[in-house]
Amino acid sequence: SRTVERSDDGALRVGGCDVRDLAGQYGTPLYIVDEVDMRARAAAFRDHFTAAFGRHGARCDVFYASKSFLSSRVARWMLDEDLNMDVASGGELEIALRGGMPPARIALHGNNKSDAEIERALKVGVGRLVVDSLDEIAIIDAIAFELGVTAPVMVRVTTGVHAGGHEYIATAHEDQKFGLSLASGAAIEALRRVHASDSLELQGIHTHIGSQILSIDAFRESATRMLRLRAEFAAESGVEVPEVDLGGGYAISYVPGTQALEPRTAAFEIADAVADALAEAGGTWPRFSIEPGRAISGPAGMTLYRVGVVKTVDLEEGGHRTYVAVDGGMSDNMRPITYGADYTATLAARLSEEPPRLSRVVGKHCESGDIVVRNVELPGDVNRGDLLAVAATGAYGRTMSNNYNALLRPAVVSVKDGDSTVHIRRDTMEDLLSWDVAPA
Ligand code: LLP
Repeated sequence: SRTVERSDDGALRVGGCDVRDLAGQYGTPLYIVDEVDMRARAAAFRDHFTAAFGRHGARCDVFYASKSFLSSRVARWMLDEDLNMDVASGGELEIALRGGMPPARIALHGNNKSDAEIERALKVGVGRLVVDSLDEIAIIDAIAFELGVTAPVMVRVTTGVHAGGHEYIATAHEDQKFGLSLASGAAIEALRRVHASDSLELQGIHTHIGSQILSIDAFRESATRMLRLRAEFAAESGVEVPEVDLGGGYAISYVPGTQALEPRTAAFEIADAVADALAEAGGTWPRFSIEPGRAISGPAGMTLYRVGVVKTVDLEEGGHRTYVAVDGGMSDNMRPITYGADYTATLAARLSEEPPRLSRVVGKHCESGDIVVRNVELPGDVNRGDLLAVAATGAYGRTMSNNYNALLRPAVVSVKDGDSTVHIRRDTMEDLLSWDVAPA
């Protein structure tokens, strides 16, 4: 459903908009979100998971993980597409609400929610708070009691299945900050405490096993462990928790030739795996939910940069590498320097007959690790003023951006049918100076 095409003169058109016009109107760097594509990805998760779980007479809701990209307009899109929303802070909560996402459709996450965040969530009536520690159960209990409300709660479980980044299952990943451990008994203890409280309502159990997951095996294993926990708690308490959330993490393809975990494949294989796991663990079907972020927002977004200087260096092992410097970098895409993430770049506004040369696209920050695309073949005549497009930057690009070196964070615009709409405006120098409190 992606609407990127190349005109005869070599310029990219996204959502019917010529990138030269977008660059002219909004400046560069610029994040461009293809509305049709992002909505279609959301709808694909909704449709396939509904169908796949429906085959078993069960239900699966989709919560869009807004940490991957959020604007109030995106919250509205997700509501239009009948999705729910996962927010991980009071800030994400406010943006989701501003977009009109009904509080009942919102799940509040976070391993260290503040009192203010918990109060706000309870006052607006979010659908659920995902509790992350035994401490937090007591904290939410006290705040809910104080407010005279019942807090809907899901317990976040660390299943010991750690997946993502690689196509294998590493187990026993207990040593990290999230969730309540299954192995140590903290998870079942959390269920007991939530169940025992008059101010808390036990809605279910939640787990998130990682990101960029390609293997269904990891989901199968985590679902199995979650359903065993549910059965174990049912056996001792007589209560079957109504819902199991299996988290997000569906892998996308960042560079050509790499795999993605398609929602359709994932939905049917996960639903079948869950059915097997349930047959083994015992119990009635719970409701299910999932929380994809990157797989909805990632491929729908691209970043447009303008080339500044080009420099070719000799390599120790022989040969050359061309450094193509663009007007952004690690401030608008933290993923290469943080995770060694790969992307690819393409000349965006013209054709070139020049033979390609090994290039590295770098930013303008004062760090040698400030890499946008580590290795890419770009035409030999790429030069100052050229536009470069980097694909699949829609997830964790703008949301992890920063003002390092006092750069101005780029705008985010969405495109559709030849029209563009600002979601987040570019920082201005005035903004930047207003954050600084000048000496008297
Ligand atoms: N649910 C929970 C509880 C999560 O913590 C996350 C991601 C998701 C859902 C969505 O995962 P996704 O489907 O987007 O993979 N900044 C990193 C990723 C960190 C993700 C943290 N949690 C990156 O740029 O790759």
